[in-house]
Amino acid sequence: MSQPKRSPEELRSHRWYGVKDLRSFGHRSRTAQMGYTRDDYAGKPVIAIVNTWSDINPCHTHFKQRVEEVKRGVWQAGGFPVELPASTLSEPFQKPTAMLYRNMLAMETEELLRAYPADGVVLMGGCDKTTPALIMGAISANLPAIFVPAGPMLRGNWQGKTLGSGSDTWKYWAELRAGNITEEDWQGVESGIARSPGHCMTMGTASTMTSVAETLGLSLTGAASIPAPDSRHAQMACSTGKRIVEMVWEDLTPKDILTETSFDNAIKVALALSGSTNSIVHIIAMARRAGFPLTLDRFDALARHTPVIANLRPAGAYLMEDFYYAGGLPALQEVMKSLLDLNQLTVTGKTLGENIAGARVFNDDVIRSLDNALSERDGIAVLRGNLAPDGAVIKPPAAEPHLLVHTGPAVVFENHQEMSERIDDPALEITENSIIVLKSAGPQGAPGMPEWGQLPIPKKLLEKGVRDMLRISDARMSGTSYGACVLHVAPESHVGGPLAFVQTGDQIELNVPERKLNLLIDEDEMARRRATWKAPEPKFSRGWGALYQSHVSQANEGCDFDFLETIPVTDITDQEP
Ligand code: FES
Ligand code: MG
Repeated sequence: MSQPKRSPEELRSHRWYGVKDLRSFGHRSRTAQMGYTRDDYAGKPVIAIVNTWSDINPCHTHFKQRVEEVKRGVWQAGGFPVELPASTLSEPFQKPTAMLYRNMLAMETEELLRAYPADGVVLMGGCDKTTPALIMGAISANLPAIFVPAGPMLRGNWQGKTLGSGSDTWKYWAELRAGNITEEDWQGVESGIARSPGHCMTMGTASTMTSVAETLGLSLTGAASIPAPDSRHAQMACSTGKRIVEMVWEDLTPKDILTETSFDNAIKVALALSGSTNSIVHIIAMARRAGFPLTLDRFDALARHTPVIANLRPAGAYLMEDFYYAGGLPALQEVMKSLLDLNQLTVTGKTLGENIAGARVFNDDVIRSLDNALSERDGIAVLRGNLAPDGAVIKPPAAEPHLLVHTGPAVVFENHQEMSERIDDPALEITENSIIVLKSAGPQGAPGMPEWGQLPIPKKLLEKGVRDMLRISDARMSGTSYGACVLHVAPESHVGGPLAFVQTGDQIELNVPERKLNLLIDEDEMARRRATWKAPEPKFSRGWGALYQSHVSQANEGCDFDFLETIPVTDITDQEP
């Protein structure tokens, strides 16, 4: 450990515990009530452990045990651990979408740290939205912080086949609907696809965001790739507990670590992983919290020079367990180090370059070399045109190549319910050249921008063997999904973005190499439709939904709340408790 920069009297918690006044008497007597004596905590850093464990989050099942391992590390290093349970954001269970609650957990994290005597924080998350939420809150609080990623679950297994979270759910669902597998087969998939604690083990949003967090410098080296049940995951949790105590003495905070360059590094790594399109929204939100006005154009610019080198589903063949055994994230970063700025500081107190020195690839089919990439560039593409003036996103490697330059007639659904009711109607006029369009699925319209963007292919086309079609919406798409899905159309239809004016039969033009997305109607017709358009009623008139609808920003802006991102970030260590 390096020399302490701060004395115990300079700790934020000193104001609760160390001063001689009536309030501090209350804090000490109430800590005694919990079974601690003064020497358990006096003069020690108080480490908040924000834990998103719950009985309904299968990705975080092991956090009940892992938090004990974090605490063990904190005690060993001379800190005082305090577990603070926080909203769990369980992707598989939370309706209408966990995204509706990302900003709630971000606010909760910030306010827990503000309101309680925390000197540093360990953030425990991993299931999709928990990672950005915890980090957004921690950036705004700006206390020393380390993120403990939940780690991927083990590979799925059924009838000797390897199953991947999400990806194989969609695949076998399509086969069931097409009549190619039985109900019994489908139940076999159900019991074998998720068979250990941990988050989705494809390169979905969870694996993307934990890898982003590590690249930003906010996790211990290699943490994001360790499978949840592996004993090395428990060791990482304990090491995090030890390290956060040192970081408090060093006063090393997220704002010391995060730079525009570290965000560039994180975007490049997400692209090299062929990571989830959801990460775009979250990375923008985190960057804006840190004070960097990151835009979609930066993603597109970096994508043009970043090859996809991780051979992971849904874009590739393998799963996160294979990625770990192949060397994990440090090995991938080592392979692409010529593209990264290795001088960025991390929670280890060392630079990214120092952290990954000596990392090696043990399977070069899983982690490819730069000259044997899965694709040379364009892990994502940002589209613009009269249908998406503020941008839209597509993941070209996940689409059938012939759809990347495509013009066809729109089949429009005004909302998700209408789509569910009509998509399998045998009378629906649609061919494989049609373009399926869904409205009212954006941040305000749905609300919460659910993962509806992998719009279903009509049953009658599935039966004909069609497995991909061009689809356009203002929704997001699960990171484990695939297909020619244009997502995040901004502005969204609910606020009068041009998507609102598309009608069935209109021709739409997509050209990914030229980054174009256009509705082929003339300007007069567009103006006429705009003039007669009526804004839909908001879905919520009270409560969180109403607060969300009135403050959430558009997808290209990160979907944060205006009052959270625009208030200049203040250092809470300067504020009186
Ligand atoms: Fe939790 Fe996929 S459901 S990460
Ligand atoms: Mg997901």
